[in-house]
Amino acid sequence: MSNRRTFAIISHPDAGKTTLTEKLLLQGGAIHLAGEVKARGAARRARSDWMKIEQQRGISVTSSVMTFDKEYEGETITFNLLDTPGHEDFSEDTYRTLTAVDSAVMVIDAAKGIEPQTRKLFEVCRLRNVPIITFVNKVDREGRDPFETLDEVADMLALDVSPQMWPIGMGGQFEGILDFATGEVSRPEGPSKEFLGKRDSDPAIPEDFAEEAELAQVGYPEFDLEAYRSGDLTPVFFGSALKNFGVTELIDAIAKYAPPPRAQPAGDDEIAPEYDEVTGFIFKVQANMDPNHRDRIAFMRQVSGTFKRGMKLTPSGLGKPIAIHSPILFFAQDREIADTAEAGDIIGIPNHGTLRVGDTLSEKDTVRFTGLPNFAPEILRRVQLKDPTKTKQLRKALDDLSEEGVIQVFYPELGANHIVGVVGQLQLEVLISRLSAEYKVEAALEDSPFATARWIKGDPKLLDEFESFNRPNLARDRDGDLVFLAKSPWDVNYQVEKNPDLTFSATKER
Ligand code: G4P
Repeated sequence: MSNRRTFAIISHPDAGKTTLTEKLLLQGGAIHLAGEVKARGAARRARSDWMKIEQQRGISVTSSVMTFDKEYEGETITFNLLDTPGHEDFSEDTYRTLTAVDSAVMVIDAAKGIEPQTRKLFEVCRLRNVPIITFVNKVDREGRDPFETLDEVADMLALDVSPQMWPIGMGGQFEGILDFATGEVSRPEGPSKEFLGKRDSDPAIPEDFAEEAELAQVGYPEFDLEAYRSGDLTPVFFGSALKNFGVTELIDAIAKYAPPPRAQPAGDDEIAPEYDEVTGFIFKVQANMDPNHRDRIAFMRQVSGTFKRGMKLTPSGLGKPIAIHSPILFFAQDREIADTAEAGDIIGIPNHGTLRVGDTLSEKDTVRFTGLPNFAPEILRRVQLKDPTKTKQLRKALDDLSEEGVIQVFYPELGANHIVGVVGQLQLEVLISRLSAEYKVEAALEDSPFATARWIKGDPKLLDEFESFNRPNLARDRDGDLVFLAKSPWDVNYQVEKNPDLTFSATKER
């Protein structure tokens, strides 16, 4: 079995993703000083405008993938943690990153439960049956009743929950965490009340907490590997990233239970990691910050084979192989620099715009991965040109940027204005900034009457009929596919009910 565990952390801002990432990297020996990740996270969040991010791009490229190793029973497990940008940076990048992982850790604030962003990201995981381990963070503080949190996860996300640990009190009363598997309690130590490694194997637990823990064990399903791997059950860990509780248990669970690299759909076939050719797909493209260079880094999730530096790979649809001489391979610090990568690894490929999100790369150009979706935009804006003579340049720019995955573009069936759709506000800032810097097109964005979009499919005759009635709300996307622009979620539901023989899809596969 492969020793790779490629995963992401999903959470609402402030739940503790950065702190947990740091603790995971510390445990894996990938960083030595607490604060390294935090500083980076803060710098990223302290964005006041897009250009600042551009200046920091050199940093964010390398922090997009964090790799660390840990030994388990004589075997080295390699963890690839893919960063999903947080709240303000929320964009399709975040969604797409989740297409490149095999599992996810969902971090929930013990006092706040499931928050909107957690839920959105969870839905994306569900779409692809990505298995989820839940980490209820901040139990060192006053929080909700843990039963309430468990029931909320179960109800809101329609998942079976299987608690693996139990907090002995919270906040001022916090006395440690009971691990159901070992019966041991990890205790807070010293003035900082941190977990420093002391595990109590014969713990005295106050009666009411002992009863609670007992109830939690009998009242919820037992852990079931198959149910977890198919995305129907989530094991739940309680802990404190800040005080180091539950972190070892979490990382051990990822090593033990999280799936190794999975096969990826390619049309009617699936490509398994054992497939002897190197294959992969691009899930993210990051443009270089320097507007004078059109250099880009394309992030490839390797699906199969053993990649070697200098290897030639053919991007789907291009027919011409490209030699990958200077790939960015992400390795744990202190690991001997190797020149190979395996299924589950991420490779950064510098290029001049040849590689696009959704592209397949393979040795013999025989494979094409499917299932990398576009997501229905949640913000739709009209593009207003400041100089009307630049229509052609604008169209070219919008086509380019939509292929790169920065935005989605919709050409309404009526009217001349182009509509751009995004899932996060930041994408709009990026759009305006890049239109101006790279294409010399000055444009503004105006409100549009639309709130979301759905791709429509169905019998051509029914589609024609629908089209003739709804033209003001219809557009074509970059590929010419028909899109219904909806004014509200209600609008979507109304059309779905009225047209039971058409499908209205919130995602579109390339
Ligand atoms: P994010 O990346 O998900 O946005 O969250 P981040 O790790 O930055 O954590 C958000 C805040 O929550 C931070 O406090 C952090 O110290 C705190 N925090 C994270 N994990 C825990 C935990 O287990 N227990 C407690 N009590 N707090 C936790 P901050 O005040 O915003 O930042 P800082 O000034 O402390 O760095």
